[in-house]
Amino acid sequence: MEQQASPRALRRLIYSSRYTGSPGDLGDVLSKIIAKSIQNNRLVNVTGFLVAGEGVFLQLLEGPATAVQETFDRLSGDPRHADLVIISDGQAQSRMFNDWNMGQHYIGASGAPRLEDLEGGRARVRAG
Ligand SMILES: Cc1cc2nc3c(=O)[nH]c(=O)nc-3n(C[C@H](O)[C@H](O)[C@H](O)COP(=O)(O)O)c2cc1C
Repeated sequence: MEQQASPRALRRLIYSSRYTGSPGDLGDVLSKIIAKSIQNNRLVNVTGFLVAGEGVFLQLLEGPATAVQETFDRLSGDPRHADLVIISDGQAQSRMFNDWNMGQHYIGASGAPRLEDLEGGRARVRAG
């Protein structure tokens, strides 16, 4: 994908994808992905969140344009998910999420997800 601005401009990308594994393994898979993401994303100043539910991932990545691109390029080849759909992608004025503060976020059929619960900071996004 082409970068839309200078490499250091703040970029925010939101995509969804389909979990390819078996439902029983999702908890374990999610913990592994999150542990790795916390490690990697901190190093390149990428923040955001990852949630999973009903066999679908939803991830928001924000940070320097180049770092977001490299992260997305790497994770898009991951066989643990497929059918990636970009929901939103573009330059951002400021971060919505100050940290890669992902616990294990599994959104079940019951219980309305509130994205603001994902981050104690400035994020005030409400899903649904
Ligand atoms: C839904 C999903 C989201 C992911 N998100 C990230 C991420 O934000 N950052 C990251 O480094 N890896 C993420 N990964 C994992 C990458 O695909 C890849 O396994 C990892 O970056 C490899 O890191 P390593 O080269 O340091 O071992 C994600 C994988 C999946 C399936």
